Order: sequence, then C-alpha cells, then structure tokens
Amino acid sequence: MTEDLSIGSFQLPGRVLLAPMSGITDAPFRQLCLNSGASLAATEMTLSEPGFRSSPETLRRLNFEGFSGIRVIQIAGSEPSQMAAAARAAVAHGAQIVDINMGCPAKKVCRKLAGSALLKDEDLVKNILDAVVDAARIPVTLKIRTGWDPTRRNGVAIAQIAESAGVMALAVHGRTRACRYRGNAEYETIRAIKSTVTIPVFANGDIDTPAKAVEVMQRTGVDGVMIGRAARGQPWLFDQVSKFIQKKVHVTSPSMSERRDMILAHLDAMYRLYGECAGVRVARKHLVWYCQNLAGAEGFRFQAVRATSSTEQMQLTKNYFDRCLIEINSPAFNESFSGELRPWRKQQN
Ligand SMILES: Cc1cc2nc3c(=O)[nH]c(=O)nc-3n(C[C@H](O)[C@H](O)[C@H](O)COP(=O)(O)O)c2cc1C
Repeated sequence: MTEDLSIGSFQLPGRVLLAPMSGITDAPFRQLCLNSGASLAATEMTLSEPGFRSSPETLRRLNFEGFSGIRVIQIAGSEPSQMAAAARAAVAHGAQIVDINMGCPAKKVCRKLAGSALLKDEDLVKNILDAVVDAARIPVTLKIRTGWDPTRRNGVAIAQIAESAGVMALAVHGRTRACRYRGNAEYETIRAIKSTVTIPVFANGDIDTPAKAVEVMQRTGVDGVMIGRAARGQPWLFDQVSKFIQKKVHVTSPSMSERRDMILAHLDAMYRLYGECAGVRVARKHLVWYCQNLAGAEGFRFQAVRATSSTEQMQLTKNYFDRCLIEINSPAFNESFSGELRPWRKQQN
C-alpha cells in the first residue's frame, strides 16, 4: 500500500480513521488519536435542526481549539434544506470536510428518520446529498451502514447515489440498521460497494487488531479502515494498525510511563474543555477503559470513578500508573497483566 490516499485536496497521512462516537470522540480524544497515528477524526455528530445547531452541546462538539488535524464536522438530519444549512454552519465553524451520518441507529436520530433510518428512502438520500454537496462547497463524505435490514442491503445503490452526487469518500459499517450492534460485522457488502464506486471507501465494524484490519482490507479491497470502539483505552492502536498495513511491522504498546503521561495529558485536556466538574465526570469512562486488563485495576477503578475533583482524579491516576511501573517487573504483575492488544467487549447498545 504505497499510493497516496486523498479526500478532495486533502492527502491523508495513512489509511486508518477514527470512527465518530458521540460521547467519546470529543476534541481531546480526537487529538490524542491523531497524535497516536489516526489519519482523520470527525467530530461527534451534530444535529441539523435549527434548535440544535447553536446549543451549548453542539458548540462544544464544534470546538477545534488547539486541534491539529483536518477539521471534519459530522452532521445528521433528514431535511435537505436543514442539512444544507447545517453544512454551511459547519463551514462557518471551520470545517474543511463535512461528513454526513447515515450510519447511526440511535433512537434520537432514527426517530426523525435520520442516521441509518434514511437508507430506506433512496430518493431522500439523493436530495440530502445533492443539497449538502451544493451548500458546502468543500469535500463531503458519507458514513453509512450496509442497508436498512438484512433483506434490504441497499448499500451498493446508496454508494452509487453518493458518488453521482459528488460525495468524495464513504465509510461503511458492516451491519444493517436493524442489526444495530448485534452479531458480527459482514464485509461482503462492503466489498461489493468498493467494487462499484471509484471514490475511497473505508471499512468499519469490529476491527480491533492490526491483523483484522489487514484481513478486512484484503477481503474487501477498501482503501482504508475506520476504528471506533476498539480505540477506547488504547489510542495507540492507530499507530499499530497503520504500521502493520503499511509495512507489516508490529509496534508494541506504549510503556507504563508513556501511558501514564499520555493519560494525564488526556485528563488535563478534558478538564480544560468541559470545566472541572463535567471534565471529572467525562474522564471516568476513559479511565475505566485505560485500566482494563491491568493489574490492580479494580481498586483503581473504584476510587477513580468516585473522585470529585480534578486534583484527586489526576493524583489517583498518577499513583496507579506509577505503581504499575514499579510492579511491572514483579512476577505477580506479569501474571495478571495482559495489556497488549486485547479483544474489546462487544457492546449491545
Ligand atoms: C457510543 C457510540 C457512539 C456513536 N456515535 C456515532 C456518531 O456520532 N456518528 C456516527 O456516524 N457513528 C456513531 N457511532 C458508530 C461508530 O462510528 C461505528 O460505526 C461503530 O461503532 C462500528 O465501528 P466499531 O466496531 O469499530 O466500533 C457510535 C458508536 C458508539 C459505540
């Protein structure tokens, strides 16, 4: 894999993208993933209804302060004129690429026939894509599922509509809307989509190791992969996957001291974005993910999720990883430590 990969005029440094995940891929986590080898990281989705467009939550999601990557804003909605307005608003907020979410099965989105529910109505999909491409005047990308349900896998038709509308890249989650997160992702429809269009296609769904990423790329012929849940607690996975795709090189996970410093910087960035109180709350889930499979994690988790101040949470985290560092050479630690790439637990949401 040596050819360059571009979206419009933006050349990507690699082929591994962070999947947008509401409540997780905020600015600090996106920056961390980019620093750790991700090539592109879109914002969490922002809803196109006027009432949502300027809500404090949306404005927080659009915050690019100190962000060094290509600025991709994801929008979701079902009304072409509102989606066009949302695309213009995204550009005004500094977007360099507008990404459309037609891949999310969340009730909040599907109730309004947006997200993956849109895949049912191909005419509406066309109208939305035409409106957004026309309004944005910057590259537009699209995230879809393979179809509405297993009997209506119309991903290929949607991909053709997207390419004709001027969409410049596609990410495809290998499940239908009806599958939600159940079962395993299937890649056959992604292969069919890739063989139909000429724009870059990224495979998404259940990719959690460098080997799986390469296997999916070989099976589908896609240009790259998009990783979501497996990145939680191990942002360095991007570098590992990227190097394995590029050079078949195995990159080891960071040392305990590298992890400690990375996590402390991540905590600090969250406190700065959300403020102390909300920052401490948002940080809890990341700390739980960071210590999964590490020795003594239970005690640390118990304390870290109850910490109420940033100073306390930082200190607990520092102490825990310092302890891991000291104990790393003890036989007991090595027996219970399995902090290399591990399968993440499938989440049913
Ligand atoms: C908590 C959570 C939030 C998500 N939020 C979004 C979102 O805002 N926009 C979107 O396009 N997809 C969203 N997704 C879907 C992911 O981008 C991705 O398609 C899905 O998790 C499958 O990839 P994975 O198996 O690598 O996690 C979300 C997924 C999760 C688990």
